[in-house]
Amino acid sequence: MPRTVLEMVAMTSHDDGPRLRWGVLGAGKIAAVFVADALSAGIDVAAVGARDGSRAAAFAERFGIRSTFGSYEELCASPEVDVIYVATPQAFHAEQALLAIAAGKHVLVEKAFTTDAASTRRVLEAARAAGVVVLEAMWTRFTPTMREVRTRVERGDLGALRAVRTAHHQKLDLSPTGRHGDPALAGGALLDLGVYAFALAIDLLGEPAEVIARGRLDGAGVDLALSVLLDYPSLGAQASLQVSMAGPGPNDATILGDGGWIHLDAPYFTWTPFQRYDASRPSRLVEEWTPTDCGAEGSPYSSRGMQFQALELERCVAAGLLESPLMPHTHTLSVMAAMDAARAQLR
Ligand SMILES: NC(=O)c1ccc[n+]([C@@H]2O[C@H](COP(=O)([O-])OP(=O)(O)OC[C@H]3O[C@@H](n4cnc5c(N)ncnc54)[C@H](OP(=O)(O)O)[C@@H]3O)[C@@H](O)[C@H]2O)c1
Repeated sequence: MPRTVLEMVAMTSHDDGPRLRWGVLGAGKIAAVFVADALSAGIDVAAVGARDGSRAAAFAERFGIRSTFGSYEELCASPEVDVIYVATPQAFHAEQALLAIAAGKHVLVEKAFTTDAASTRRVLEAARAAGVVVLEAMWTRFTPTMREVRTRVERGDLGALRAVRTAHHQKLDLSPTGRHGDPALAGGALLDLGVYAFALAIDLLGEPAEVIARGRLDGAGVDLALSVLLDYPSLGAQASLQVSMAGPGPNDATILGDGGWIHLDAPYFTWTPFQRYDASRPSRLVEEWTPTDCGAEGSPYSSRGMQFQALELERCVAAGLLESPLMPHTHTLSVMAAMDAARAQLR
């Protein structure tokens, strides 16, 4: 019997079965980043659908994608597509994921998975009933960095975990034409940036017993910045999360245990280096880990790292799994429920 998440993942291979044909739903900014990374990993991006056919065609030409559709419905109905990547603002994720599931497609849903736990539950239940894989595109979790961190945590290098601390600050476009500050598009720091911090804490510590949040809202009721404490009294552990889309700041994270700690370089939610320290006084640096696959022009790495989540979805399909052991549905639901609890406390 496998004992750890990584042992469960190692039991199945990426190379089993035919490759999936991916359809991209929404021809926007992150879709372009995802497709570039996916193509770099040999993933078959077969189709793109946009609300406007000419947008889809321009996107397809840019990346050499063979089929285009002028509506999301046509994309999802296409027999030339096995899996849909939902890449629209979070306000639409639930309805579009349900559209794909109803068409019998597997789905990779951009973060935040939906806008709340209730709609997340509907999507997860529909996918289970349809027998298709649905995976939250929490891309950070599937990078080599997080796999290495997980190995160290699971083999006990840090001892018992006691704290996770994250900082995530980005000065985003809050103009009326952008999605970040628009409540109709589910804009806000919590769903857009905070989701990474909740996902990391819940990955390492599980579902919190209590969520304490304070934050700053703008005139439209959109959360600009927040501080969150996740409490785990049974573990003697806490997570403290700082998030802002209104100004710059550090973007690093630390994972602290009785026996040592790990510092994730900024931006901690990417394919980033980390350092591990022991429990001496003062702490001694015992390991520096750096991604080895470096060198793309204009980037420290050969890709941004969004392909790993797509490879994981393909691995799940090949292995006959409906969910990934690395990002189980319970985690997606716990993240959304904890964010619901945080949002309810913002004034
Ligand atoms: N993983 C990451 O690193 C990362 C980074 C940034 C964003 N994201 C996530 O990716 C998602 C999309 O973000 P983005 O920055 O790519 O957004 P975006 O470029 O503003 O929009 C993406 C697409 O959503 C559709 N869309 C936009 N506004 C719409 C509206 N008012 N009504 C209906 N559809 C609309 C459009 O599709 P059409 O092309 O069909 O018109 C657009 O191309 C969000 O959930 C965000 O949280 C993830």
